[in-house]
Amino acid sequence: MNYRTTFRASLDWPEAFWTAAAEEIDWYRAPTRVLDSSNPPHYRWFPDGELNTCYNALDRHIEAGRGDCDALIYDSPVTATKTTYSYVRLRHDVARFAGVLTGLGVTRGDRVVIYMPTVPEAAIAMLACARIGAVHSVVFGGFAANELAIRIDDATPKVVVAASCGIEGKRIIEYKPLLDRAVEQAHHKPDFCVILQRPQAVAEMGERDVDWSDAIAAATPAACVPVASTDPLYILYTSGTTGKPKGVVRDNGGHAVALCWTMNNVYDVAPRDVMFSASDVGWVAGHSYIVYAPLLVGATTVLYEGKPVGTPDPGQLWRVVAEHGVRTMFTAPSALRVIRKEDPAGAFLADHDISRMRYLFLGGERLDPATLRWAQDLLGIPVVDHWWQTETGWPVAANLMGLEPMPIKPGSPTVPVPGWDIGVLDADGRAVAPGVDGALVVKLPLPPGSLTTLWNDDDRFVSSYLSRYTGYYLTGDGGHIDKDGYVFVMGRIDDVINVAGHRLSTGAMEEALAGHPAVAECAVIGVADPIKGQIPRGFVVLKDDVDADETDLSAELVQRVRTQIGAVAALRDIAIVPGLPKTRSGKILRQTMRAIADGADSPAPSTIDDVSVLDAIRPILRRG
Ligand code: COA
Ligand code: AMP
Repeated sequence: MNYRTTFRASLDWPEAFWTAAAEEIDWYRAPTRVLDSSNPPHYRWFPDGELNTCYNALDRHIEAGRGDCDALIYDSPVTATKTTYSYVRLRHDVARFAGVLTGLGVTRGDRVVIYMPTVPEAAIAMLACARIGAVHSVVFGGFAANELAIRIDDATPKVVVAASCGIEGKRIIEYKPLLDRAVEQAHHKPDFCVILQRPQAVAEMGERDVDWSDAIAAATPAACVPVASTDPLYILYTSGTTGKPKGVVRDNGGHAVALCWTMNNVYDVAPRDVMFSASDVGWVAGHSYIVYAPLLVGATTVLYEGKPVGTPDPGQLWRVVAEHGVRTMFTAPSALRVIRKEDPAGAFLADHDISRMRYLFLGGERLDPATLRWAQDLLGIPVVDHWWQTETGWPVAANLMGLEPMPIKPGSPTVPVPGWDIGVLDADGRAVAPGVDGALVVKLPLPPGSLTTLWNDDDRFVSSYLSRYTGYYLTGDGGHIDKDGYVFVMGRIDDVINVAGHRLSTGAMEEALAGHPAVAECAVIGVADPIKGQIPRGFVVLKDDVDADETDLSAELVQRVRTQIGAVAALRDIAIVPGLPKTRSGKILRQTMRAIADGADSPAPSTIDDVSVLDAIRPILRRG
């Protein structure tokens, strides 16, 4: 079937479409119902099915005689390590770690927070949770203790699994002190913390700490526990518009079915093919396309602990492709932009034979046409932009390499993926004409594998995504669909920004700044950056009685955001300003500020309260 027929089938007969897709999964109890739509806007896929995601990712391939095939290749230039796990070896380690968790009292439905860098043990811990029906929540290592504490309080885990350190380029980041601070700060206390000791920084152990290696050596392997298709597999926190992150909940059944479908149809990856997603396990890309999807289809996944540049050179991603025979690679455009900056002519590529690579997929942020062209010229293979989100779990718009490759239009992630009924609405909820920008929405029900709710907060799930336009999911992105059906994603229409493919909340940064005793009010905006796509800039108005050295205060505020949110926030530029431009109703004119900072000659909007405030900060905004 071609793209158009498949797409229509997915929307016109979703139950038949997803029933066929569900045949790729081994069920303990095959679902007799496909979609429960009895409680809109909440929908549940395969409501009476029972399965185990870990069984589908590991055991079934071994039972099918493919146990010796490579499951996971760990390639870590920062520790000079390369290790290959066959399916048998990976299952062995996962089953033992599942036994460790069981021994610590973790049972089906309990939460386990994982705070680890991209090392095999992170994937092992995730799969071990899936094996026993526990719900994992991986927290990205670049987040500070305060953010970890917020997630611990929300997910209330029985156990936290952490590594003693992560390695960021040439620097060692000790995770254990951050974990200790987070546990101290959180109201909820986990019973145990399992610590993977890494030789680069061995952590001091405390009362509730358990050593990973000791525990795994003493553990009895645990078997797979059948869970309901609708049971949560994981919670993944992502930035919303406030300081409180959203705990995106993914179920077991829909997730497994949808990810398997994408491997064939979007990424053109079959059993034994090698997929390399150069991301971090802490992001959705890592969950879906480092850990779960490649293993669910019996492919080989490459887990890379390093950076695109500096570990030690800009040829590392190409080296990994060449050495491990990668067929499909996936990374963020920022990674390519830093490589291009250091190696514009691709001299480092010449050292590596990447002839087995068929596709480079890019996602997580907008792919600018210049980067697309550079990559196309350099690699001579399809460079595929695709658009998705933590919430959706898998691509919403893509060029489907396994189904029917389409001509590429620079600036567009191509067409809606089957299952996603994308629309563009104006402020009044009316569909706009082709080519006209509006809010990108998806008609309900969302396909399997997309978020089912926000952890502990059905109301916020509805108010954040489903109440703006009745019957539609609000993506938070703006854009248009052209007359050929190509989707163009132009950027967020809320206070979320995207820095080097990392999703961050300007609202959270504003909350951190506003908490400083000298700050009367503040605004953080995302401005264009040639490498990271966007970077945050902060503007702060001081209280009248504050008499501080502005350079010192700015540095203190930068540090405050780093301490409260984490290094990943990357807010390095804070200007002290006399006032912030506002509408007459008191709303800060962030969009106008952003346009000026990005170089536009934006006039003051008619709603402005006092135009002199905007004129006063115009030169500061432009200076960026
Ligand atoms: N643990 C601890 N700290 C981390 C971290 C982690 N897992 N990840 C990032 N950080 C730190 C960085 O060291 C940096 O700290 P610094 O301010 O002390 O230098 C800070 O967070 C900002 O990180 P980042 O925005 O990644 O900037 P960078 O200059 O270190 O690297 C890129 C820039 C483009 C090379 C890198 O961001 C990248 O490879 N991005 C694209 C790929 C990607 O993973 N995208 C995710 C979705 S697909
Ligand atoms: P995250 O939830 O971290 O994956 O971030 C999702 C957001 O990243 C989306 O809402 C978009 O704003 C942005 N994004 C992801 N992929 C693309 C893409 N291909 N083009 C444009 N923006 C993208």
